[in-house]
Amino acid sequence: MRPFGRPELFFVFAKQNDHRADSRAFERNREGQAGIIHNMTSDIQIHVSPFVGFARQWTPVALSSELRGRPLAVTVAATDVVLFRDAKGVASALIDRCPHRSVKLSLGRVEDGCLTCPFHGWKFAGDGACTDVPWHPEAKRDALGATPLPTRELGGMLWIYTAIDEQPRDEPSPPAEVLAPDVRLFGESFEWRAHWTRAVENMVDDSHLPFVHPNSIGRGMRRSRDATLALDVEEHPWGWSWRAVVDGVAAEWSAELRLPNVSLLRIPAGPGKSLGICFAAVPVDGERARILQLGYRSFLRSPAFDWIFRAINRRVLGEDKAIVESSPVGPVPHASAEASVATDVVGLRFRKRALAIIRS
Ligand code: FES
Ligand SMILES: [Fe+2]
Repeated sequence: MRPFGRPELFFVFAKQNDHRADSRAFERNREGQAGIIHNMTSDIQIHVSPFVGFARQWTPVALSSELRGRPLAVTVAATDVVLFRDAKGVASALIDRCPHRSVKLSLGRVEDGCLTCPFHGWKFAGDGACTDVPWHPEAKRDALGATPLPTRELGGMLWIYTAIDEQPRDEPSPPAEVLAPDVRLFGESFEWRAHWTRAVENMVDDSHLPFVHPNSIGRGMRRSRDATLALDVEEHPWGWSWRAVVDGVAAEWSAELRLPNVSLLRIPAGPGKSLGICFAAVPVDGERARILQLGYRSFLRSPAFDWIFRAINRRVLGEDKAIVESSPVGPVPHASAEASVATDVVGLRFRKRALAIIRS
C-alpha cells in the first residue's frame, strides 16, 4: 500500500545545460507518467507523481461559495491546485505551478478572466492556454501553457478530476438533493488531522450517533441497553444508500455514500420538506483531510436563517472531529486489522474500495 502522504519519487537525470527541462513544471518520467519536476542540483531532478493514492477520481475540492474574485489554492492528495473564475464566472482549475519558474500561480491575480502569475506576469486562461508573455509579444505561447485539470461546478461544490493529460471516464455524480433547484445551500469547510478514509468511515457510521452526539443528532436514538440497530443497505452504481432500523422499526433518517468521498444525511423535517447535510472528505495529504459540509433545506430559504442551521451543523461536525482525529495516522487498515460488527457494513464495503484507490 502506498499512502499518498509519501509522494512517489522518480529521479530524472537531466543533461546540464538542458534549459528546456528546467523550464517545465511538468514532465514525464521514463515510463511516461506525468509528474512535477523539482530541481535538486544542476543535473539531478526529482519527478513527483501528482495525486498519488487518489488518481483518476472526481472529487469536490471546495464549496462554490469559497471561490469568488480571487484565486483559491487547495491541496489535493499532496498536489497543489489553484481554482479561479473567468470573466463569465466559469470555474477552472490548474496545477498551482507556473510553467515558467514554477512559483505558485495562486499568489497571482485574476485579470480579464485570466490568471496572472505573480512573478513575471504571464497570463493563463482556464484551459491553461498562455494568453500573454510580457516583454515577449512574439513568444510562441502555444508551448508555454499551464497544466489544466477537468473542472465542474455542481450542487454547490467545485469538482476536479485528479489526472493530468487524461479525459475523465465519466462525470461527477452529486446527491440529487443538492442539485434540486428549490433548496437553499449553505456550507463551511474545515481541516481535520485525519486521513480522508477515516473521515468517510465516520460519515457512514450510524451506530456512533448516540455516543458522539448524545445531545444533538443522536439524542433519544438508543432507548435501552438491549436496543438493536440494523442497516437496510442498497447497492448502486455510484455507491450505497441505507436506512437504519432501530429495534425493528425503520428510522426516519436515511443516508448515502457516493464513491469515493461524498456522503449525504437526510434529516426528517416534516411532509414535503427536504433537510440534510452533504459531506465531502477531500484528501489533503497522508495526515489531513479537508471536510466540506454543505447543508441544504427546502424551507426557511432566506439566507438570514443560515446562521442557525450552520451553528447546529458545526456543532455536530466538531463532535465528530474530536473523536476521528484520535485515530492512527494514515489510511484505514485492511478489515482484518480492526474488530468489526454488522453495523459497520457500509464502512467495510467502503474500505475495500478505498484501499483499491489508494493502491492503484
Ligand atoms: S514564474 Fe510565472 S511568469 Fe515567470
Ligand atoms: Fe457523527
